[in-house]
Amino acid sequence: MSFDLVKETAANPELMAWVGEMKEKLDAKMAYGLKKANEVDYMPYSSENGQWKETHIGWWTNGFWPATMWQMFRMTGKDLYREEAVRTEKMLDKALQDFKNLSHDVGFMWLIHSGVRYALEKNPDSYDRVLYAAEVLAGRFNPNGFIRAWNGKGREGWAIIDCMMNLPILYWASEVTGDPRYQLIAMKHADTSMKAFVRPDGSCNHIVIFDPDDGDFLDNPGGQGFESGSSWSRGQAWALYGFTLSYLHTGKQEYLDTAKRVAHYFISQITDDWVPRCDFRQPADPDIRDNAAGNIAASGLLELARMVPECEGRFYYEAALKILRAQEKTCADWTEATPAVFTKCTSAYHDLPGRHIQMNYGDFYFVEAIGKLLGEKLLAWYPNREN
Ligand code: GLY
Repeated sequence: MSFDLVKETAANPELMAWVGEMKEKLDAKMAYGLKKANEVDYMPYSSENGQWKETHIGWWTNGFWPATMWQMFRMTGKDLYREEAVRTEKMLDKALQDFKNLSHDVGFMWLIHSGVRYALEKNPDSYDRVLYAAEVLAGRFNPNGFIRAWNGKGREGWAIIDCMMNLPILYWASEVTGDPRYQLIAMKHADTSMKAFVRPDGSCNHIVIFDPDDGDFLDNPGGQGFESGSSWSRGQAWALYGFTLSYLHTGKQEYLDTAKRVAHYFISQITDDWVPRCDFRQPADPDIRDNAAGNIAASGLLELARMVPECEGRFYYEAALKILRAQEKTCADWTEATPAVFTKCTSAYHDLPGRHIQMNYGDFYFVEAIGKLLGEKLLAWYPNREN
């Protein structure tokens, strides 16, 4: 029997009280963030001086705001969240029209809200948006076995670990069309990622550069982490959650084993305060943290927990709770001084102004994790799943 995290949570009155408190606080804060979003004409991402900071349509984080709104709609039943999701979904059509400038991040940009809307309401425009985005991602596949991450001359052979979280849009496309091509592409990329990105100890490269003509490994720069060979914690979190999702969609045992290996590494590296450093191999000083890595990993660990037998699941479940509770206790801002919740997200180790900022996908994964504890199914990454 697999681990039942909802039953486990419901059986613990102290934990249930905290989860209930989080639901109320999220409702108040997200309603405030929504009010602030309606004062501007751009998509929320990070904040500055108490306001949402301007971000352009086409940026990879664009989907997280409407996706958070769907999660809040599911959690509270309040129509204002659904309306905001629908309003902002349309803003993204400009990015689809400008498809040449899209990167591999189209799963983040469309599956997690348009895919959810299609699953809940069968909206045909939402379906078209997700399928179009999946075609764009499939078109980035290099037959040497990887999906190209970014555009620009010289980056033809660049792939990044984050792409594991974009693969669910390809699994979705195979599910809805009945055509296996999308899933085959996703699995080729996941297979390559297991070999080229995940190291024997469970740590991961952020970027791998392949020769685009023959697929030979050329280099592994440090990317958003400290340096080549270090261990960017958000990259580890993408791998942990991403391989879990590939297992869920395909049943391939090696993906589950890889997700566990990365999870064990992640948990072994986190400090006693349970707030991940930006890079697990960064120097002790400065002490840079990343709440986004923590919340992504926590939501991934909850998913991993419900994939495995009861005796195994508890380990992942308890680690997830420790991260969620520690980050909430030490880094959350529930006031109206800022439009988002988590304050110690870091865009990249060497991006100095991007250290300890708000990034709304840090919030998204927290909302998602609280939803899971309350019984929500895995909507964003597997919208068509029956249960
Ligand atoms: N490259 C996506 C991220 O910052 O996690």
